[in-house]
Amino acid sequence: MSTERRKRRVFVKTYGCQMNVYDSDRMAEALAPHGYERAEAAADADLVILNTCHIREKATEKVYSDLGRLRDLRSERLAQGGGDMLLAVAGCTAQAEGEAMLDRAPYIDLVVGPQSYHRLPELLARRQREGKSQLDTEFPLISKFDELVRHVEAAPPSAFLSIQEGCDKFCTFCVVPYTRGAEESRPAAAVLAEARMLVQAGARELVLLGQNVNAYHGEAPEGGEWTLARLIRAMAEIPDLARIRYTTSHPRDMDADLIRAHGEIPALMPFLHLPVQSGSDKVLKAMNRGYTADDFRRIVDALRAARPDIALSSDFITGFPGETDEDFAATMRLVEDVGFAQAYSFKYSGRPGTPATGMRGQLKDAVKSERLAVLQALLEEQSTAFNRATVGRKTDVLLERPGRHEGQLIGRSPWLQAVHVSAVDLKVGDMATVEITACHPHSLAGVLALASSRSAAA
Ligand code: 5AD
Ligand code: SF4
Repeated sequence: MSTERRKRRVFVKTYGCQMNVYDSDRMAEALAPHGYERAEAAADADLVILNTCHIREKATEKVYSDLGRLRDLRSERLAQGGGDMLLAVAGCTAQAEGEAMLDRAPYIDLVVGPQSYHRLPELLARRQREGKSQLDTEFPLISKFDELVRHVEAAPPSAFLSIQEGCDKFCTFCVVPYTRGAEESRPAAAVLAEARMLVQAGARELVLLGQNVNAYHGEAPEGGEWTLARLIRAMAEIPDLARIRYTTSHPRDMDADLIRAHGEIPALMPFLHLPVQSGSDKVLKAMNRGYTADDFRRIVDALRAARPDIALSSDFITGFPGETDEDFAATMRLVEDVGFAQAYSFKYSGRPGTPATGMRGQLKDAVKSERLAVLQALLEEQSTAFNRATVGRKTDVLLERPGRHEGQLIGRSPWLQAVHVSAVDLKVGDMATVEITACHPHSLAGVLALASSRSAAA
């Protein structure tokens, strides 16, 4: 371990998914023993890490434009006699592009893939010693999960906990199996230890993360394997842990026990993000999703039978190669049938190295955009209706951060809605019972009905 004493500052910019948010914290934590504190802005940092996303072309292009801006910032600083700033690129673009990234932007000091974060301090030391850019996009035998044993003093009220990574499903449009590698589950004992640590440090809600989180099959404490349902049952026993969520799931792995768990475990929140991508069986097949639209409808019915108030969220892609008007109409029908509380929808973006880029029937951008607009109008209508329906209801809100106004706190309902509450006597980390009084485009407003006195520090 380095014995560097001088305080340095690291700024981590996160792109993309929640897995990256979690990884960014872990990178900062891995650098802390080497003298790095977290900076609030790139301008204040000695080291800037871009934790990148490669899922769509737009995300990747954003990384390159940000890199250009950082290079200028560094030059300005050096010209004014300030200290140097190291530029590191981590995450999925780093993994996918590797060497090519250094060719395109040779001023990058470090390119490090998502499996190698525990090697960051060593890579930085080598960069300084050798004075040249470093690249590490291996899939090492020793997992980063084993290396990065975690301890934090203070956790947010809602904390991420990564339990599974990678993907073996190879949907034909997706880069994740190539950037994050094969599916790997963390041993249950390690997950539970981290969960207890986070709750001790103030978390009241844990969000279990994985690219395919419901495919979780981690080593069990007593030998054998645990499923996600089994893990959640054990986690629900942790005192003071009020809420459990998990994301992102695949419909294929929504097994009967997990569906049952939604009806049996009060701490498991009644909200599920379950990407369907399309409502056309032909498109689903071409995407290699492994289910039909009716399979998805049946899963939703079973979930609602187990937990009638469960709300659903999903991901959609419009304009996948070969998608006809009829296929798109089938997607619209599925949305009408299911009813989503929230959704993310994207135009299909051809990604290098994925099978779908070579498929016949690539669609014009205008067609993708038009379908996206039509779909988003319906999804927006559904989410507004869902939010409106909560007005007048009383619900628990976990207060997560201060609002913009004096005495105002912002939290989340069980259905992941942002709720603004005036709560002078309460603080971040408290669970409050709130009566929802109004519905705004992206949030709800509420008044305190009754407050729990248990705080994050309890
Ligand atoms: N083009 C468009 N959307 C994509 N997604 C993944 N790959 C692509 C792509 N090539 C979307 C899927 C996935 C979400 C995380 O991103 O909907 O569920
Ligand atoms: Fe990508 Fe499909 Fe794996 Fe999800 S399940 S990460 S969409 S390959």
